Amino acid sequence: MRKIVINGGKSLKGHVAVSGAKNSVVALIPAIILADDIVTLDGVPAISDVDSLVEIIEIMGCQVKRSGETLEIDPRGVKNIPLPYGKINSLRASYYFYGSLLGRFAEATVGLPGGCDLGPRPIDLHLKAFEAMGAKVSYEGESMRLATDGQPLQGAHIYMDTVSVGATINTMIAATKAKGRTVIENAAREPEIIDVATLLNNMGAKIRGAGTDVISIEGVDSLHGTRHQVIPDRIEAGSYIAMAAAIGEGVHITNVLYEHLESFIAKLEEMGVRMTIDEDSVFVEKQEQLKAVSVKTSPYPGFATDLQQPITPLLLTAQGRGTIIDTIYEKRVNHVAEMARMGADITVTGGQIVYHAPNKLTGAPVKATDLRAGAALVTAGLMAEGTTEISNIEFILRGYSNIIEKLTALGADIKIIEE
Ligand code: EPZ
Repeated sequence: MRKIVINGGKSLKGHVAVSGAKNSVVALIPAIILADDIVTLDGVPAISDVDSLVEIIEIMGCQVKRSGETLEIDPRGVKNIPLPYGKINSLRASYYFYGSLLGRFAEATVGLPGGCDLGPRPIDLHLKAFEAMGAKVSYEGESMRLATDGQPLQGAHIYMDTVSVGATINTMIAATKAKGRTVIENAAREPEIIDVATLLNNMGAKIRGAGTDVISIEGVDSLHGTRHQVIPDRIEAGSYIAMAAAIGEGVHITNVLYEHLESFIAKLEEMGVRMTIDEDSVFVEKQEQLKAVSVKTSPYPGFATDLQQPITPLLLTAQGRGTIIDTIYEKRVNHVAEMARMGADITVTGGQIVYHAPNKLTGAPVKATDLRAGAALVTAGLMAEGTTEISNIEFILRGYSNIIEKLTALGADIKIIEE
């Protein structure tokens, strides 16, 4: 089993460049199956979710050329084969293959999605949209089959009962080549949704309103190739900004779109974090006294649920008491017990996280319970006196490209060991 080992207490200094957005690229790659020509992506992060998706589309018959952060995908040979439960189960975003296979073949058989354990993660809103467009759902073992029995997908008017990033993107992908117009109401507004719409429109789709809560899609008959730059990963950016504020002495984080992080930056400013923000980077100074604050997550542009865990170690360096409430995933609290083992004064009471700071953290053996919990434990390990060993690091490597290299370059004593 591989572990991340950190000898903590060393301050971070220097420059780190944020990579392309995981939650965009995991939708862009399946969406490319809709195209009738080659599509090239630039700024693709080196994360295992990308490796898994590339493996799946190659099994389906796509030709893929990968060099550095560029991915050239030729989907012209793609076959509509049932996607095996195995690889599919390794990531939640595999549900985007339902949308793209439906969009291209009007039929899809895909293993039920996996992903981090954040509590129940239904896909009922995805299925409600696909059924509204004429697909019928049936189950075959660990797989689910969506099919229109020969009819093309029909445009539909869909109201999302819950704001859902995945359901919004998946519906947009399926609707791109459906007959007629699809309208998605109460759509999610995350930047990744705009990024997928931008790619599809540059392939010839007719999508309007991405980034607002009403998105309309006029179905088209075919989609041509294009070249697309993946947007920066706002969650990776926020994670490094939090690390820099917690234990940095001057860290420059580049490839950051401020407008994607406004609620997060506002929270840091409320704490008194001193940083300089320009149009595509943030410089974080060494911090003096910070004020403890409370955090409540909400759909974009609110405070991102994916950043409530990465900001937590920074909160523990402040002065005072605060609460963290995740309104998207109330069970996204498994990191709390792990941080308490490192000496954090943090508990889960009545559905909210309560902390009292400042805390002196001590290195300990801990385990990552999901991707962003893992990032929080890396930050805690960097801050702690002594050695921290983190297991289940596959979660972290799914979403943080080259994290060991990036942190080592900032002066951290961090490595991966094989046990
Ligand atoms: C995306 O997950 C992200 N993952 C998550 O990031 C992120 O936390 C989440 O959006 C935030 O909303 C990817 O983009 C691959 P949702 P997604 O559908 O699309 C409920 C990370 O750390 N819901 O927006 O799966 C759901 O239970 C990951 O990078 C339904 O009820 O999330 C949740 O409470 C973790 N029915 C809420 O909606 C559905 O059909 C928001 O989920 C779908 C979702």
